[in-house]
Amino acid sequence: MKTYRIAVYPGDGIGIEVTEEVVRVLEAVQDDTFKLDFTPIPWGGDYYMQHGRVTPENYLEILRPFDAIYLGALGDPARIPDHITLVPIVEIRQHFDQYACVRPAKLLPGVSSPLKTTEPIDLVVLRENSEGEYVSHGGRFKVGRPDETATQTSVHTRKGVERILRFGFEMARSRRQHLTMITKSNALKYGMVLWDEVLEAIKDEYPDVEADKQHVDAAAMNFVRCPEFFDVVVASNLFGDILSDLGGIIAGGLGLAPSANINPERAFPSMFESVHGSAPDIAGKGIANPIASILAAAMMLDWLHLPNPAEKIRDAVAKTLISGAKTPDLGGTLKTREMTDAIIQNL
Ligand code: NAI
Ligand code: MG
Repeated sequence: MKTYRIAVYPGDGIGIEVTEEVVRVLEAVQDDTFKLDFTPIPWGGDYYMQHGRVTPENYLEILRPFDAIYLGALGDPARIPDHITLVPIVEIRQHFDQYACVRPAKLLPGVSSPLKTTEPIDLVVLRENSEGEYVSHGGRFKVGRPDETATQTSVHTRKGVERILRFGFEMARSRRQHLTMITKSNALKYGMVLWDEVLEAIKDEYPDVEADKQHVDAAAMNFVRCPEFFDVVVASNLFGDILSDLGGIIAGGLGLAPSANINPERAFPSMFESVHGSAPDIAGKGIANPIASILAAAMMLDWLHLPNPAEKIRDAVAKTLISGAKTPDLGGTLKTREMTDAIIQNL
């Protein structure tokens, strides 16, 4: 029997509430073929109040030995500015070279989309997670003066663009063999033109995959107009961030949208979380939808080469939704805990 060491990092707000449910589901799905060994990671807003930092100084070293990191959500905006609380997410992604952020948006049975479409919605936003617009390169000067100036530079490397596109092509091969690359190369003529050139250079190596591209503004429109067009959508860090929220909402809402931050080479642990944040507007009420986080846990099991329990979780979620069980975000009345109980019963 193989044991996997999982760092369980609930974070803040509903992150804490849904992570509790995720652990219950993972415990229920364990059998005698594998064991998950959970280590609680108590970092976030409360930790900051005690220590003046959101994590210990050596937190990356602490996380390094785990087989996977399960993250709830970070953000405690009533007490601490987001640019302090959310730093660990970006640093973990970059330090552990989790350059592939995988965000499926699939309209599940029993869930209605805000779109009128009758076509299936089943796409994956693959977001470049290690560079691009989020490298934190820039500065501010003349601070506080009327002529204050800020710069924020995007960094796109040939290596970074190529590896995320190759990851996307491989993913498309296991899906519907269609890849759409998102850029804005009509206006961003250095970084985004590099993306265009790299796609041109490698796409013939994947003749079984149909590759096309769209500018991000057109893609935003097309996600609403014809979501069924998309299969694998590869985008830079910022564009992928935005399009994955859009993907989440057209597939029924952020309460259902999971996410994986993958280091494909497995040199470092990968991290699994929901797309949503700590939702302070509903935190503490016990009404958060746990499904996004539970589906992220299923992605974690897939990544740990445990496809059977992963599929079992997805089946139980689908069965539960078809039965009409819903939390308030989906128009139902179930509490977070009751929704999870229903899913566990269907495992
Ligand atoms: P949010 O995703 O937390 O919430 C947006 C809206 O969706 C809210 O109305 C919320 O109630 C609802 N919602 C989100 N998840 C839900 C769930 N599971 N069930 C039911 N309703 C749900 O985004 P928001 O409000 O912009 O940010 C709140 C905090 O979270 C901020 O501090 C932000 O920086 C942080 N954040 C953290 C992320 C992360 O940890 N990866 C991602 C996004 C935001
Ligand atoms: Mg986001």
